[in-house]
Amino acid sequence: MCGIIGYVGKKPAKDILIDGLAKLEYRGYDSAGIALLNDDDTLTIKKKAGRVEDLREMCSDDSPVYRSTCGIGHTRWATHGGVTDVNAHPHRCGDVALIHNGIIENYNDIVREYGLADRLVSETDTEVVAALLDTLYDGNPIETIRKAVKAIAGSFALCIMFADRPGKIYAVRNVSPMIASYTDEGSIIASDLTAIISFSKEYFVVPEYHILTLSSTGIKVEDMKGNMVEPEMLKITWDITAAQKGGYPHFMLKEIYEQPEALRNTITPRIVNELPDFTEDGIDDEVFKNLENITVVACGTAMHAGIVGKAMIEKELKIPVNVEIASEFRYKEPLINEKTLVIVTSQSGETIDTLEALRLAKRCGSKVLSIVNVKGSTIARESDYVLYTHAGPEIAVASTKAYSVQMAAMYLIGCRLGYVKGIYSEDRAKAFIRQLQGVIPVIEETLKQADEVKTVANYIKMAPDAFFIGRGLDYTLSLEGALKLKEISYVHAEAYAAGELKHGTIALITENVPVIALATQESVYGKMISNIREVKARGAYVILVSMDEEYNDKDVCDKHISIPKQDGLFTVFSAAVILQLIAYYTSDAKGLDVDKPRNLAKSVTVE
Ligand code: F6R
Repeated sequence: MCGIIGYVGKKPAKDILIDGLAKLEYRGYDSAGIALLNDDDTLTIKKKAGRVEDLREMCSDDSPVYRSTCGIGHTRWATHGGVTDVNAHPHRCGDVALIHNGIIENYNDIVREYGLADRLVSETDTEVVAALLDTLYDGNPIETIRKAVKAIAGSFALCIMFADRPGKIYAVRNVSPMIASYTDEGSIIASDLTAIISFSKEYFVVPEYHILTLSSTGIKVEDMKGNMVEPEMLKITWDITAAQKGGYPHFMLKEIYEQPEALRNTITPRIVNELPDFTEDGIDDEVFKNLENITVVACGTAMHAGIVGKAMIEKELKIPVNVEIASEFRYKEPLINEKTLVIVTSQSGETIDTLEALRLAKRCGSKVLSIVNVKGSTIARESDYVLYTHAGPEIAVASTKAYSVQMAAMYLIGCRLGYVKGIYSEDRAKAFIRQLQGVIPVIEETLKQADEVKTVANYIKMAPDAFFIGRGLDYTLSLEGALKLKEISYVHAEAYAAGELKHGTIALITENVPVIALATQESVYGKMISNIREVKARGAYVILVSMDEEYNDKDVCDKHISIPKQDGLFTVFSAAVILQLIAYYTSDAKGLDVDKPRNLAKSVTVE
């Protein structure tokens, strides 16, 4: 949700900033801008509505301002104020230019209290902070920032430049993510690692409510009382190629194809003597022994992975699992206590609703185990236990590989839980793990169906609506299939428990409406086929996804996509790949921007 970057060093800043913004663009892509500070105290802002490449074009002249070696840049996901040039960041007021990721909640109060109304030209909450800083500025940047931070409420990652402080960038944050690094080349700060990896292999997470001063010789970090702090340096464990398309036309397709590796990296380190083992993750078995029930809290795709986990754990272990939408959970009085294990699931580890849900769960006395992909993210840091997924960076806005590894993490947890509680014998737990490892070659095989899926996508691309139906685990997967299709191909889609369709929704099944029917669950296969016949009888175009050997009802579908034969508890992994490919190829066939669907952004750090 908005990408920010700042650089000060030996090299001209413009290209470093714009290249960094291109890597951060998946966080928001409504508008982009940079501010450059020159040694003669001139502050130049270039910004516009549109993509980073439009900004690059705008800054392609040979103006001397581009010799500046100090600047900040921003790519926006609009919250306050429409997508216009004037609302784009950086914002300037008097001697202050700044960029912001987050939401300033009390901007109206600040405008009133400090009489700033006449100074504002945009509709953004951010500009209010620029005006506030300029009003408070007395020649001492740190003291001014300290006063401003005390006045503002909300989430913020701010990078600030003062016109009379050439060669300096100041930064401060609350909740919204920000990391920083420095080398002999200078200092850099950004929303996430993708923007700095080509610069350095080491970084630190900017501590909340600390003020940073970046200069060409290093970064000073001080707390709000002025005490200097030495931040803990972390290593980047993946290389730059992980954040590049690597020959694929889109990040989404690349990430779909990376799933076998992502699963291998997530599952293998947790297998010791053929059993799941979280010793290296620092997760104590006591946490499993003591729990009576589980609540999973997450948003979107991560929440869907939780729903799959619920179906699996309840079926196998008979332990109640409640799945909650984080934005709802955080505003209710949740029915959890110290006997509840709260599992918080998040790719980015920064989703604000999920983070607040985590905090609420802790206040309620529950232990929190998070399943997180981004190392050192806020959710990971605030959890009692973390099970990192090792999917590598996920750049496409639509989540794919992160979903698979989140499901795998839920399966690992379920297996360990069953074993620790004596519900699973050692042999059963080992067999479970073998089957979980077995999904990796099955996915490799399933990916060979891509061409079959393309033909389906060519049909779906013409439809205004589509339905995903299934029973049991297939239904839980349908939820994700429908979300994926909606978000990147803009085809309205609904997921339905196949048996529920006839209680109203079947009224929408008319001639040629695509119905993607998942039938991988042996125990309900016959019932599922009956439900498919019900929609077929009403003219639906049925795309059946089932295992090869179970497909013997040719007449029920218009198109069959097969996945390899496997135990029904594990089919979600390969069937998920088919659903992801359906969404991908439909979006691509419509000529849409697959990796950057409209109105969306990766990492939702606003409520
Ligand atoms: C959809 C998608 C979103 C995220 C959701 C939570 O493809 O990616 O629904 O799953 O915004 O994000 P994280 O997992 O970062 O908390």
